[in-house]
Amino acid sequence: GVSLDAKDFLTLKTLTPEQLQQLIDLGIHLKQLVQTNQPHPYLTGKTLAMIFEKSSTRTRVSFEVGMAQLGGHALNLSSDNLQMGRGETVQDTAKVFSEYVDAIMIRTYSHAMVEELAANATVPVINGLTDDYHPCQVLADLMTLVELKGSLIGKKLAYVGDGNNMAHSLMIGCAKMGMTCAIASPEGYMPKEEIVQTAKGIAGETGGSIIITNEPREAVEAADAVYTDVWASMGWESEQAEREIAFKDFQVNDELVKYAASDYTFLHCLPAHRGEEVTASVLDGSHSYVFQEAGNRLHAQKALLLSLLQSS
Ligand code: CP
Ligand code: NVA
Repeated sequence: GVSLDAKDFLTLKTLTPEQLQQLIDLGIHLKQLVQTNQPHPYLTGKTLAMIFEKSSTRTRVSFEVGMAQLGGHALNLSSDNLQMGRGETVQDTAKVFSEYVDAIMIRTYSHAMVEELAANATVPVINGLTDDYHPCQVLADLMTLVELKGSLIGKKLAYVGDGNNMAHSLMIGCAKMGMTCAIASPEGYMPKEEIVQTAKGIAGETGGSIIITNEPREAVEAADAVYTDVWASMGWESEQAEREIAFKDFQVNDELVKYAASDYTFLHCLPAHRGEEVTASVLDGSHSYVFQEAGNRLHAQKALLLSLLQSS
């Protein structure tokens, strides 16, 4: 595993650019082991607890399969059937889990709750998505771009859509890699200013840059990667109708991607809504690598698990 400074993996902020690159390289190595059928049970006897307060396909399956491939075990838990769902405190839950398992992955709403869980757990805590961040996804996204483009320094990623958890984590991850990250969101749905400032600070150290705009074409102009995400994230479903109106000019379609670099890569964390944030022509088109990207969740997270559990 890669030697990391922090016990937990909550936002990507605690990684140095070197550590992020090393995690990606380890993910690529682990992918080769899978593809050549070489067993790699480096986490024999280790257990990961996975707590889900929101739905998941990729995160759930990739972590569970990843632990199995590493010789360990993953527990698939829902807050509904934990005492947490009946009011047991986050602090007590963190301490109890620390007695049983070697790491905790959690997907929930409040990022502050995950920070509290991590502060009270003696074992590593992995953020499997909060309302504010989705760092595991960005690890896989950056790994995919490294596979496709090699060095990412100076490359431009355009994100068109909601200034949500994906926008936030992409800004931080791209800034760490010395990339330009351009976010185009409608007024009222811009990324959080505090996180924009954090990303700009990181970019200032790496030679990257952060562009925030309300104009999709400006963001996509000469972009090496074009990214989008759902208009109504988990927890915001009741706003679907008003969001369809607010985001109508923020669809990634054939017209918009004409502004991107000719060899641009389309990425999407999935699940996708064809005809809303992206047309089928782009999502299922020749520039789209969304299934390689989804597959890389497995490999990138195995690199993360090895790195966190080695130092625990
Ligand atoms: N991209 C992603 O995290 O997918 P799931 O919601 O299916 O886990
Ligand atoms: N922004 C989306 C990402 C899903 C992987 C959500 O939070 O629902």
